Amino acid sequence: MEIRNVCVLGAGLMGSGIAQVCAQAGYQVTLRDIEQRFIDSGINTIKKNLGRDVEKGKKSPADMAAVLGLIKPTLDLKEAAGNADCVVEVVVEVMDIKKQVYQELESIVPAHCLFFTNTSGLSITEMAAITKRPARFIGTHFFNPVPVMRLLEIIRGYETSDETLAIASEWGKSIGKEVIVVKEAPAFAVNRILCTMMNEAFFTLDEGIASAEDIDKGMVLGCNHPMGPLALADLVGNDTLLHVIEGMHRELGDKYRPAPILQKLVRAGRFGRKTGKGIYDYTTK
Ligand code: 3HC
Repeated sequence: MEIRNVCVLGAGLMGSGIAQVCAQAGYQVTLRDIEQRFIDSGINTIKKNLGRDVEKGKKSPADMAAVLGLIKPTLDLKEAAGNADCVVEVVVEVMDIKKQVYQELESIVPAHCLFFTNTSGLSITEMAAITKRPARFIGTHFFNPVPVMRLLEIIRGYETSDETLAIASEWGKSIGKEVIVVKEAPAFAVNRILCTMMNEAFFTLDEGIASAEDIDKGMVLGCNHPMGPLALADLVGNDTLLHVIEGMHRELGDKYRPAPILQKLVRAGRFGRKTGKGIYDYTTK
């Protein structure tokens, strides 16, 4: 089977980036969210990213218009998914909400449609099990910022077929990503390592070992990371990070206990860049 029409559910940080890279590769994309303001914000992010490429001479204004022309924003799930060859689900990291979305999708999508979930760490197998197509269900984990990061981590659920894996891998390559295939496990491979490191940075801060600035400076200058772990947490979203850590804690035990300060930040609504404040304040920049 060939993928032509991609439906992206969720126009947030990740969903808008996925819609952009799919349209850049020539796919017809529908981008759906539950409120117009989320759609507007996602489309604005895409326009900003493409505009930057035009300013740098990497794309022409006509290229930008062509990419935008391939993305159809909508609030209507039937319109978004009715003709989809694959649905890339990027809704909030809450298992029950994701399951509800898949139940709604079943009666809407064509029989051949594949389900790709961009979860940061939830069980692919558990989501797939409530659908009628567990063999056509797979994890496609993207990294933020999606247009820049080269990796697509593909996760096989218990029932995922070889054919689905092959199609998802080809699709990943076609949108310019390098693919790694990993087995299902809490937080998979990359987030198991990366989110544990970010959580440890919050413990280091909590214990007064160093300031946020020095923790970040230490990891940038001492380890050549492109940005420090606390700044990275603000970029991916402290709420998303906490969801991943809580999942690992639940399934893998106490070693993965969330740092108290991370919990407090999330309770305070300091999710990071997307809310204007996290560890750092972005409202004045
Ligand atoms: N969207 C699109 N493009 C962006 C961008 C964004 N938000 N931010 C930066 N860029 C582009 C810039 O336009 C620039 O493009 P160019 O090379 O064509 O000129 C390029 O990225 C580099 O940007 P800058 O020069 O402005 O800044 P930096 O060199 O500091 O790079 C960064 C910014 C790419 C964010 C870099 O700091 C980085 O790689 N940080 C680490 C990101 C990372 O680890 N992501 C993974 C997070 S984990 C995750 O997402 C999984 C989830 O499940 C939790």
